[in-house]
Amino acid sequence: MSPETIINVASVKHRSPFRYPGGKTWLVPRIYTWLTEKHQPSIHFIEPFAGGAIVGLSVAFEELARYVTLVELDEQVAAVWQTVIETDDGLWLADQIREFEMTPENVDELFSKPEVSLRERAFQTIVKNRVNRGGILASGAGRLKHGENGRGILSRWYPDTLAKRIRDIVNIKARLTFVYGDGLQVIEDHIDNPDVAFFIDPPYTASSKKPGRRLYDHSEIDHHRLFSLLAQASGDFLMTYDNAEEVDELAASFGFDTLAIPMKNTHHAKLTELLIGRDLEWARE
Ligand SMILES: C[S@@+](CC[C@H](N)C(=O)[O-])C[C@H]1O[C@@H](n2cnc3c(N)ncnc32)[C@H](O)[C@@H]1O
Repeated sequence: MSPETIINVASVKHRSPFRYPGGKTWLVPRIYTWLTEKHQPSIHFIEPFAGGAIVGLSVAFEELARYVTLVELDEQVAAVWQTVIETDDGLWLADQIREFEMTPENVDELFSKPEVSLRERAFQTIVKNRVNRGGILASGAGRLKHGENGRGILSRWYPDTLAKRIRDIVNIKARLTFVYGDGLQVIEDHIDNPDVAFFIDPPYTASSKKPGRRLYDHSEIDHHRLFSLLAQASGDFLMTYDNAEEVDELAASFGFDTLAIPMKNTHHAKLTELLIGRDLEWARE
């Protein structure tokens, strides 16, 4: 695939129950190229900033790694992955989604519960991700008013599809591990392991524009430390960032390779993001 190719996201199977701000569905075919060309399926794949985890889940479903570790620091997002991957409540969550009657009153009632169990928090998160504008879960995010075709909060609610995605993940959870914690710490924990491939999609807050600032409650990380850890890691990595000069300079200062690739087309411009790795020759072919 040439670096110029714009991927049609409709061609990528949607494995995640989230619609995630900054989600990487458009990158999935390139991840397949990276793994099939550079790595054995025995690799341990780690996604330290998992969010909706579309990449890690796709890798697990395609069996391009022996197992996949997802890491996330956001409590609401973590509740979903903990429920689906670590507990036996994944099917409960799928059933709740199918049975919920999506009305503004029911949404208000659901969100007003003060004390909730882990699985109830997971359910709240799934609903919030569907009714908030842009799927944004960060504090202060607004709710959809009109949505698509005036369907309001129903416009992104596909209960059967979401329930099925969750049941499918439950079926492969033996290959998945979830860590509720700091992605940088997990990278450090695996720093000497050559049989690891990291896919790194951090909040985009390294450049002065900081496009990721309002998208997540946890949007600030130590970007310099992240680059420095990756420079020391024995395993391979692939990282994405906003295509900004400051990020390019940071990558160059660690001797990393960079490549701007299109993420989508608007009417006026081809929007690009930056791929960063040790050697991106495989992505240039
Ligand atoms: C760009 S998003 C990842 C999107 C994901 N690749 C997808 O396709 O859905 C970055 C994520 O990193 C999480 N995050 C921020 N700081 C973190 C940290 N120190 N450790 C783990 N996750 C963190 C944010 O909550 C957010 O979900």
